[in-house]
Amino acid sequence: MCYAIPGRIVSIQGRTATIDYFGERREAGIIETGNWALKTGNYVYAQGGIVVDRIAESDALAILESWKGRFFELKKRDAGIAETAKTKKIKNNGSLASVLDKAESGALLTRRDMETVITAEKPSLEPLYASANRVRSRELGNSCCVHGIIEFSNNCKNGCAYCGINKNNTKLARYRMGADEIVERAEYAVKELGFRALVLQSGEDDYYSDDVLVDIVKRIREQCGILIFMSIGERPFECYKKLYGAGAYGALLRFETSNPKIYSMVRPGKRLEERLALIRKLIAAGFVVATGFLVGLPGATEQDLINDILLTKSLRPDMYSFGPLIPHPRTLLAGTKPIAPDYALRAIALSRFIDPKAKILATTALETLNKGKKDGLLAGANSLMINLTPDKYKRDYDLYPGKTKGTGLGTRNPKPGTQDTGPGTQDEIRETLGLLYSLGRAPTDIGKMDGNHVFA
Ligand code: 5AD
Repeated sequence: MCYAIPGRIVSIQGRTATIDYFGERREAGIIETGNWALKTGNYVYAQGGIVVDRIAESDALAILESWKGRFFELKKRDAGIAETAKTKKIKNNGSLASVLDKAESGALLTRRDMETVITAEKPSLEPLYASANRVRSRELGNSCCVHGIIEFSNNCKNGCAYCGINKNNTKLARYRMGADEIVERAEYAVKELGFRALVLQSGEDDYYSDDVLVDIVKRIREQCGILIFMSIGERPFECYKKLYGAGAYGALLRFETSNPKIYSMVRPGKRLEERLALIRKLIAAGFVVATGFLVGLPGATEQDLINDILLTKSLRPDMYSFGPLIPHPRTLLAGTKPIAPDYALRAIALSRFIDPKAKILATTALETLNKGKKDGLLAGANSLMINLTPDKYKRDYDLYPGKTKGTGLGTRNPKPGTQDTGPGTQDEIRETLGLLYSLGRAPTDIGKMDGNHVFA
């Protein structure tokens, strides 16, 4: 299985290549010196708007041949689902109906319109989601990027009020994957499972020095032409720069909330301003950034949610990553009332209207509420993440309850010589692909459409 399809370079201007995928064109940056010799006619893999690997023409043609029939079949299915939903009418909510018309016509929504979306009553939600799904289908087609995530350490020096791996949770068994283990797992994800973009995530764990992280990234990049996202929290910008130099061009760092008071309450001793400054610096330096917030933090109002989405848009990230707060029993927010599942879905739909060409992740936290992945994808989302943490560690990366639900985790004892302990990861991949195909989505990231990257 492949999570990216190769494309053919049809032109190069400066460091930007225009790549053709079955007649669709996308732009991608050529940032690695090793790729500077690329020419029109070459076949490449691009992820997050960056060329990450070159592929021989004969190999590319064979892969494209195997994709061709399916690619068009999936497109048709997606368009069919988007159109069929059109027949559903909104009852008794004229103001929502006109906001949806406005959003679908591409007009800018006012703040009042945004409030209408966030506060829409239950019976109007299906048409709302269907409308956002149509905007997604029209603006971005059916490609859905599927990134893998490896959670390499659950040690954290912070005491965040929402997070299950916070330093004060003494009941949690802590683990760290060694450098060799991380590199091996990444290679397995790329070479055996077909991933082309990986997130390396951990708590804020200074056990891994800058040099160790750089070495891990370098070793992975020597073996694999992929986009690596670092999700390691607030390390100094200098550390991120070193990692970029080693070949990790992506960073996943949420700002958690746009409300500075709530921020300092749930991240004791920390300031939103500093977090945002780092995110802005990463984007300005050319990182492919995924960022976003938690929906449902205590004290957050509907206005805060609108501000969260508008702040995300103003940062111009590559991807929106936000999800519902799932209160964890061993955190300061243990007693917080969980939000209604549809609240996070409205946030997805509204984000789609406000930023029609955005990549929006249907996050794992959403999934703990009903059939979140599917609902998210049908409410405007177009990206997924699959957990590729070795099964023996998965359950201890306990950010929130129910996180490993449905992954088939049976045993904690690895079979000697195997990468996985049980059917967990493989099952999740099978289920996810089945879902994507049933919805007419191609599990590929075919690159950026608006070319807003600044390449460092
Ligand atoms: N519920 C939902 N998401 C959470 N995260 C941490 N704790 C929780 C929780 N209880 C999210 C944070 C963090 C990301 C890695 O996980 O937004 O940035």
